[in-house]
Amino acid sequence: MLLVNAPVIAQENPANPIPVLPDKPFDYSFPRDLSLKTATQLPSYNNTDNQNNHLATLGRVLFYDKNLSANKLVSCGSCHKQQNGFDDPSRFSIGFEGTITSRSAMGLTNALFNTNGRYFWDQRAANLKQQVLIPIHDPIEMGLKRGSLVSRVSDQPYYSQLFENAFGKIEIKENNIAAALTGFISSIVSTNSPYDKARRMVSDRAQDFPSFSLQQNQGKNIFLKSCAACHLGEAFIAPSSGENNGLDIDSSKDRGIGVITGLETDMGKFRAPSLGNIAVRAPYMHDGRFVSLGAVIDHYSTQIKNHPNLGAPLKAENGKPRRFNFNPSQKAALIAFLQTLTDRKLLSDPKFSNPFQQ
Ligand code: HEC
Ligand code: HEC
Repeated sequence: MLLVNAPVIAQENPANPIPVLPDKPFDYSFPRDLSLKTATQLPSYNNTDNQNNHLATLGRVLFYDKNLSANKLVSCGSCHKQQNGFDDPSRFSIGFEGTITSRSAMGLTNALFNTNGRYFWDQRAANLKQQVLIPIHDPIEMGLKRGSLVSRVSDQPYYSQLFENAFGKIEIKENNIAAALTGFISSIVSTNSPYDKARRMVSDRAQDFPSFSLQQNQGKNIFLKSCAACHLGEAFIAPSSGENNGLDIDSSKDRGIGVITGLETDMGKFRAPSLGNIAVRAPYMHDGRFVSLGAVIDHYSTQIKNHPNLGAPLKAENGKPRRFNFNPSQKAALIAFLQTLTDRKLLSDPKFSNPFQQ
């Protein structure tokens, strides 16, 4: 392992740690063998190119660097925790000054595969590269003054080498910072979950998976029938329009995508992130109201509310909210299936971990 800067500094001054990185960058490419995750915009930077491994490496350091927040107490990784699928186990997240966020954090597993490339629960960011700079200046999250990001980064001695590796020259500017964060986040893809592995063995996912238990296959069947209309593709990601899943009767608490578009038909709609690693991402929904997958399934089973924009797949033929009325064994099967979406390797893979030894 190579210390990017003199190790002595780290020991003498633990308040200003330096990242510990491997001599040769980790490999951030991922297999594309599975008709797996469908994406509209597979970015060119995510391949086996050495340069791009350097880009993701820089992104990793930025992601965990508390110097990017106003008072140097919070990094992206403070709220997006690797062992939780880059989600926050707290209902709301604590920002740099101890204030809490107004929505629950989102998991970042498979974030690359967003159907229309828009980000946040209300889709207010047009793409990932635009999104990654927003938290840095958010008054609750990281609070850094506009215009001071480049100097904050330049002030840290370890960045010149990392920018040179990633871009061929030491060019520390916002666009490159955004590109590196995007490169890192785009590499956080689940490829080793029991579902991913089983999916590679069959041509049609509706078939029973040979490596799944009876219960897991039963859960998969229920999921494909009742849920997959809104959790799309192999990353189980929300449709580009966003959806309303009947959490509330109206949108008075949070108008979601409607806040951004101003359209009546978007009120109360949200985009759910990929269900990758969902079992380790509690609590659930934009306001973190459900503490467990059991509570989520109970919602879909009997609690769906008749919101004016309730998604069609959750309406019965008479237009009223659908009552799936899952019995206990169906509920257990659905949970068993959702647990197959956990990629344990990803949750502890050193290449995604905090490089600062603090
Ligand atoms: C204080 C906690 C906190 C910090 C720090 C933080 N985030 Fe977030 N993140 C959130 C919350 C909360 C949301 C959801 C906000 C919303 O939708 O209104 C979110 C959403 C996101 C999303 C959207 C995911 C999707 O699927 O739409 C991405 C990407 C993201 N954050 C990346 C980052 C990056 C990169 C950083 C660091 C530069 C960062 N976050 C720092 C709490 C945080
Ligand atoms: C009409 C579309 C629709 C259907 C059908 C649907 N969902 Fe959802 N789901 C959503 C939306 C939209 C969200 C995000 C809602 C929010 O937070 O406001 C969501 C959120 C979730 C979440 C929480 C995600 C997170 O990151 O917190 C889980 C888990 C989930 N759904 C599982 C299921 C299961 C299991 C089924 C089938 C029983 C199902 N969904 C059916 C639209 C749907």
